[in-house]
Amino acid sequence: MEKSATSERRIAVVTGGNKGIGLEVCRQLASKEVVVVLTARDEKRGTEAARALHASGFSDVVYHNLDVSDPSSAACLAGFIENKFGKLDILINNAGAIGATAEIDTTTPLQDVLAGKNATERLQWLLQHSTETYEEAEECLRINYFGTKYVTEALLPLLQASSDGRLVNVSSNYGLLRYFSGEDVKLELNNVENLTIQRLDEMSRLFLNDYKNGQLKSHGWPADAEYLAYKVSKALINGYTRIMAKNFPALRINSVHPGYCMTDINYDTGELTAEEGAGSIVMVSLLPVGGPTGVFFYHDEVAPFV
Ligand SMILES: NC(=O)c1ccc[n+]([C@@H]2O[C@H](COP(=O)([O-])OP(=O)(O)OC[C@H]3O[C@@H](n4cnc5c(N)ncnc54)[C@H](OP(=O)(O)O)[C@@H]3O)[C@@H](O)[C@H]2O)c1
Repeated sequence: MEKSATSERRIAVVTGGNKGIGLEVCRQLASKEVVVVLTARDEKRGTEAARALHASGFSDVVYHNLDVSDPSSAACLAGFIENKFGKLDILINNAGAIGATAEIDTTTPLQDVLAGKNATERLQWLLQHSTETYEEAEECLRINYFGTKYVTEALLPLLQASSDGRLVNVSSNYGLLRYFSGEDVKLELNNVENLTIQRLDEMSRLFLNDYKNGQLKSHGWPADAEYLAYKVSKALINGYTRIMAKNFPALRINSVHPGYCMTDINYDTGELTAEEGAGSIVMVSLLPVGGPTGVFFYHDEVAPFV
């Protein structure tokens, strides 16, 4: 694909595009005539996913390596996009990790264990069987929050080169501020006028420190049940969305909760398909010109960050 052949078409980058919701986002964008750069941290998984989309008739899908937690990998991707397309219209920060492990008895197929349970019961079952370590919490913040930031920072000049740049940060209902135990942290994260990216970085460090020292509740962090780091990482992503939207009003920058979808991240316990979850993300990425920016979409609807 030459620059001239694609300059009239929208160009999108999807992180974590090799499976789950990310792969479905790639497929749906490609079906809408968008040229898709499917990125993945593992070359084999990424090229196989791109090949599968080619086999389904989507020839304008290009694979490029990207480990979102590595700023030099993001810089390399930016160089590739600059040379090949000279601009970027849509960035979907989708890659993510749950920061926990479920201890599952493999002697009985999971399908049988979960048979007859509704989505709420399946989630309860998953939470009851999950544990998280400090190392997993650290990795979760590194991939989800810092990964979103590194990739955005590297690709921002290319999004600004678009006539209508879109940034979609895949968040979660778990990033809502209602999961925080203290009012002060909630208020601080909700006060977008005073919030800074530097402070979000610092909050990530403070959370991990409190995690290590068993001070989550006393310092207002999410402290009940599992997925504590995941909740903080997605809340920081939402803060990042709001700050970036304020700082770059020419772009459309939003967070999306795709719904509880059946993917590897939750051992396929979800209630929606990956395709349905991807539908919300794609809808937000292709909103008409002049649409909302700096907001949270719960599926297809604008909803509070709290
Ligand atoms: N499924 C749900 O119910 C649900 C609900 C709310 C939000 N979400 C969000 O939706 C997004 C996609 O999740 P999913 O459900 O599709 O889960 P998934 O099937 O487990 O996919 C996660 C993707 O992220 C990639 N990834 C992880 N770390 C990475 C890194 N350092 N660099 C690049 N890629 C990395 C994975 O790559 P590998 O294959 O190499 O591991 C994989 O492609 C996540 O942000 C998740 O938090 C999901």
